[in-house]
Amino acid sequence: MKKITIAEMASYNGQTVKLGAWVANKRSSGKIAFLQLRDGSGFVQGVVVKAEVGEELFAAAKSLTQETSLYVTGEVKEDERSAFGYELAVTDIEIIHVAQDFPITPKEHGTEFLMDNRHLWLRSRKQHAIMKIRNEIIRATYEFYNDNGFIKVDPPILTGSAPEGTSELFATKYFDEDAFLSQSGQLYMEAAAMALGKVFSFGPTFRAEKSKTRRHLIEFWMIEPEMAFMEHHESLEVQEQYVAHIVQSVLKNCRLELERLERDTTKLEKIKAPFPRITYDEAIKWLNDNGFDDIEWGEDFGAPHETAIAENYDMPVFIVNYPTNIKPFYMQPHPERDDVVLCADLIAPEGYGEIIGGSERIHDFELMKQRINEHGLDEEAYAWYLELSKYGAVPHSGFGLGLERTVAWISGAEHVRETIPFPRLLNRLYP
Ligand code: 4AD
Ligand code: MG
Repeated sequence: MKKITIAEMASYNGQTVKLGAWVANKRSSGKIAFLQLRDGSGFVQGVVVKAEVGEELFAAAKSLTQETSLYVTGEVKEDERSAFGYELAVTDIEIIHVAQDFPITPKEHGTEFLMDNRHLWLRSRKQHAIMKIRNEIIRATYEFYNDNGFIKVDPPILTGSAPEGTSELFATKYFDEDAFLSQSGQLYMEAAAMALGKVFSFGPTFRAEKSKTRRHLIEFWMIEPEMAFMEHHESLEVQEQYVAHIVQSVLKNCRLELERLERDTTKLEKIKAPFPRITYDEAIKWLNDNGFDDIEWGEDFGAPHETAIAENYDMPVFIVNYPTNIKPFYMQPHPERDDVVLCADLIAPEGYGEIIGGSERIHDFELMKQRINEHGLDEEAYAWYLELSKYGAVPHSGFGLGLERTVAWISGAEHVRETIPFPRLLNRLYP
């Protein structure tokens, strides 16, 4: 008997196969039992007919409890009523382990309860779909950068620098020295770009932010491309092509998952490069003209501002050229203005907020040194970084895409806590 996975069933139509699976749910009458089976690769219905399997096996099938593990044998049959397209006509069941009182039942549970049981909640259909979409975005990311001549580089996680400001650092000890968990690999990626041209990283980053919103995690994963000989407007083109590529890849390869999440895919189908661009100045003016009196030039946008701006477009929108004083030290000044920098945030549609932050980087030694000092950073800790603008400095740009916010947007998840297997949130380190 061939042992296969649910995902492979389409290639075995009409054949008898064996699956290792868990019972996700069950429905039965006197004559027939429907087992909702899952094996990690997918979900399928197993049909057990009393007249065909006999009294004993039927009784065993009827008494199966939620999350009991088993080997199940049966014939693969086409099933037009299910989105998956196949079902299993069960001929034999071999119980591996009987699960008693699985805490997450098909009824509604509160968020805190589900979060306390995250290690079990991951098995649910919805969480399974979100994790598959997360995986597809990661796969499509590697595909995009590999196909476009980028080299994957892994920056360190234990660092002595703070690219995004010192207020949100996770401090730790590095033997006798003070160290931080990386809040961005960018500075190291700049060094890597000077060695390898076009590079990208994918790794965990940490922000000790006391924010309790649906967009904030304490530990999140970031994709950070960095490109030598690249001006900011050219970087925007890479960003929009990359984001369009991951959206189109999810649409192509996660059809069942998007359907299971009831995601409105017509909105995603529109996501194609180029994306609209507006300046920070225009965004402030639009907000002020449209009833937002709570923000003026020089202030950063809050979630309601980003959401309102995004509602004007059915694409993600770049907001370019933010004021110098609300952005990090390393951003290249605008060539014609000294109050704004060459940067952009990419705001996702449907209220999901900023998914990318990026900029051109300063490549003038004196200016970089001045900016490091103006930001009160320890010049000694940045000595290596300063040397990048001392030996063959070139215009270069890069950006960081937050994976979980992107997963939330594409999958339509309510909150980023559902887009990472084990979220680290304010007040949550368990499980
Ligand atoms: O805008 P940020 O802070 O930019 C940087 O870290 C740059 N050094 C990136 C670069 O140019 N290489 O963060 C980039 C993205 C944000 O747009 C957002 O998507 C995500 O990271 N992000 C968070 N995601 C979840 N929880 C948080 N607390 C996040 N903070 C940032
Ligand atoms: Mg940002």
